[in-house]
Amino acid sequence: MIHLFQPQVGDEELSAVAEVFRDRWLGHGPRTRRFEAAFAEHLGVEPDRVVFLNSGTAGLFLAVETLDLAEGDEVVMPSMSFLAAANAVVAAGARPVFCDVDPRTMNPRWEDVEAVLTPRTRAVVVLHYGGYPGWVAEIAERCRERGLTLIEDSACSIASAVDGRAVGTFGDLAMWSLDAAKVLTTGDGGLLYARDAERAARARRLAYHGLVQPSGFGYARVSHRWWELEVPETGRRAIGNDLTAAIGLVQLRRLPEFVARRREITELYDRELADVEGLRLPPPLPAGHTSSYYFYWVQMDAEIRDEVASDLLAADIYTTFRYAPLHKVPAYRSGDRVLPATDRAAGETLCLPLHPGLGDEDVRTVAERLRKAVTSRRRTTVG
Ligand SMILES: Cc1ncc(COP(=O)(O)O)c(C=O)c1O
Repeated sequence: MIHLFQPQVGDEELSAVAEVFRDRWLGHGPRTRRFEAAFAEHLGVEPDRVVFLNSGTAGLFLAVETLDLAEGDEVVMPSMSFLAAANAVVAAGARPVFCDVDPRTMNPRWEDVEAVLTPRTRAVVVLHYGGYPGWVAEIAERCRERGLTLIEDSACSIASAVDGRAVGTFGDLAMWSLDAAKVLTTGDGGLLYARDAERAARARRLAYHGLVQPSGFGYARVSHRWWELEVPETGRRAIGNDLTAAIGLVQLRRLPEFVARRREITELYDRELADVEGLRLPPPLPAGHTSSYYFYWVQMDAEIRDEVASDLLAADIYTTFRYAPLHKVPAYRSGDRVLPATDRAAGETLCLPLHPGLGDEDVRTVAERLRKAVTSRRRTTVG
């Protein structure tokens, strides 16, 4: 089977974990702080603004929690988002409002966001589809002018940048997912960034029950009665630990290698698929943009997309579509909102296998099978 994603973990990660075993400090501790500092350096921000968490979802929930939303408040996000963003808004008692996207890049333009703004809009969440930064710089500027908080769901864009500035640092808050499918993985994990120091400190407290001072061993030397509780507002337990931070530190060092291979695979797909009739490839990145190359996606006539996916599965090639539109999910109560570009892209798009574990031969096999499937399905279905 040629998989869509595959974690790139090996001997280096294993020996980092072995060291943690030897030190017998598995929980939140020095490696967690080192990982946060290393990631802050990767972003070009102050280390106290980054919090290592047990999932990207926790990052979204915490980010939204720090907005202090009230019932009836609205948060705009592309319908083509991962459902955790909408769930975080619902959990905070507010309403997710879905906007359309550019049908080729699946990223929202400012006009898409603006079209659904109301006097109740408090914040905007953008996702950088497949690692493409999209119009994040302009959206951040417009949000700032209007006093709207911008959260970047940077799950796909850990190494993406615009003119050298890391994606995730354009808005007020951002999170990254480090789950097993992501470019950089700790098995499960997440990172949260907050531009504002106070907000970052609050998110850090909320990630550990709302405690001002964690009640553990680390504080015994600096606090009288370190077991006492100071809880100005209640939180949850969503912190990362030293075992996964140790893996993260190795993965962060290897990140350029992962992205370079992903880029090679993307370019190979581009070459192999350039002349397939009926197939549209991802548009080129604009000047100054760099991607994490998280997805490689193709678009075709909606009448054949599902059959093409089945043909590839029958050939042991796993493909999928991300992200199924949220305005179609009844739980989010969007009524019969119509988002033409999203609806169209949701029927036409397929994400192909993309991970550094793929050899050139695997990529050529996927491309050749895809070419065959599209050609034969077009002949029988489209006519
Ligand atoms: C765009 C996006 N946002 C958020 C998440 C949630 O991250 P996690 O799985 O680490 O909770 C994911 C995970 O797939 C994602 O793809």
